[in-house]
Amino acid sequence: MSGIHRHLLVRRDGPVERVTLNRPEVRNAFNDEVIAELSEWAERTAGDPAVRVVVLAGAGKAFCAGADVTWMARMRTYTEEENLRDAAAMASMFGSLDALPVPLVGRIQGAALGGGTGLAAVCDVVVASDDAEFGFTEVRLGILPAVISPFAVAKIGVSAARELMLTGQRFGAARAREIGLVHRIAAAGELDDAVQACVREILAGAPSGIAAAKRLIPEVAGARPGEAARLTSRAIAAQRVSPEGQEGLAAFLEKRRPGWAPDPS
Ligand code: COA
Repeated sequence: MSGIHRHLLVRRDGPVERVTLNRPEVRNAFNDEVIAELSEWAERTAGDPAVRVVVLAGAGKAFCAGADVTWMARMRTYTEEENLRDAAAMASMFGSLDALPVPLVGRIQGAALGGGTGLAAVCDVVVASDDAEFGFTEVRLGILPAVISPFAVAKIGVSAARELMLTGQRFGAARAREIGLVHRIAAAGELDDAVQACVREILAGAPSGIAAAKRLIPEVAGARPGEAARLTSRAIAAQRVSPEGQEGLAAFLEKRRPGWAPDPS
């Protein structure tokens, strides 16, 4: 166990960090305290070179029921300015998770609603159980999916966002995979194995190559073609001459495992 947290379970297993939202009695809904803890955790993890992959999970029967409605109801009595400060803290938390320099794997069972769907959107790989349920339910509660929208729209595109954010309908893992929110679906009893398989795949890749790819993807997505060519050439040239670039190519030619890859057995 690393760090002291009230609402998170954090466990380090070699290069794998597992962070679990731990308020199962409210289906892991997040309030200002959870936001502060997750933000602090993300900042610390981003600066820890020993971590190569993070698994984000939720304790109990649901992944995350989104923003804590009790907390939001309390916010009704606050001024707009205080609400703005609060929303900015939530935006910063989503931004920090989105920008983690290592892959973030979402392990999703049961409900992932509102901000829970938003958390899925900031994961690089989402592994969901076949009973998972997603939805931008905010409009049903009289609010809107605002803070999570940049991350969700980047993931599922404008068309699906318009349908799902405006209807507030709930949708299952199959639909979530169709729109690019979920990548892999497993039977509920096989979810951990499916997550572990994904973790193993990530550990087989060069940490610096993965980090560079993660940085490059949003840059390329927002770049004009000429600009993209410059960015991509620079990225591959730097990686080829880097220690891991050299090691990876040498290991392949010498038919051996590269230094960063764990024994597959
Ligand atoms: N905020 C605060 N508390 C929440 C919550 C939320 N977002 N979601 C669930 N809870 C609480 C419930 O009020 C209930 O508390 P209680 O035991 O004191 O009555 C407890 O969690 C269990 O919820 P319950 O609905 O009985 O459990 P369930 O397993 O049948 O259903 C959900 C779980 C998540 C599907 C359901 O609670 C739900 O739809 N929640 C709303 C999710 C949502 O729309 N979030 C978007 C917020 S913007």
